[in-house]
Amino acid sequence: MKRPRFILITLCVFVLMLLLPACTSPATPSPAQPTEPAALAPTVVPVTLDGKQLLEQRCIECHDLQRTESAKKSAEGWGKTVQRMMDKGAILTADEKSTLVEYLAKAYPQ
Ligand code: HEC
Repeated sequence: MKRPRFILITLCVFVLMLLLPACTSPATPSPAQPTEPAALAPTVVPVTLDGKQLLEQRCIECHDLQRTESAKKSAEGWGKTVQRMMDKGAILTADEKSTLVEYLAKAYPQ
């Protein structure tokens, strides 16, 4: 009675040891798959709607970042300033503008 149970347990452990690497091995090829969406993502998402990136890309044509970084404004104030910059020639879509204003209000608050 004791012996078959021992064999059964040993067999179970053995099977588990065989299965465990089999379970973890799909994890190895899977990082290769996420690289595909990740490779696509940078071209679509962060470039358009990242406040910091927008600031660094769209707000340095006429003056350096120092000008923005030394200013402290409320969200309303930043909204007016960014609109004024757009009137001067800064290019931002409506979505980009609100993302940037939100970022500026947090990064350089009054
Ligand atoms: C087309 C040129 C141009 C671009 C692009 C531009 N600016 Fe300006 N900016 C100016 C000029 C000219 C002044 C100085 C005159 C003034 O304040 O209106 C100025 C002044 C400023 C000031 C100081 C005055 C204040 O109101 O505090 C801040 C802050 C500023 N800009 C932020 C930005 C931000 C943020 C962006 C990106 C959305 C940006 N600028 C893009 C031309 C530009």
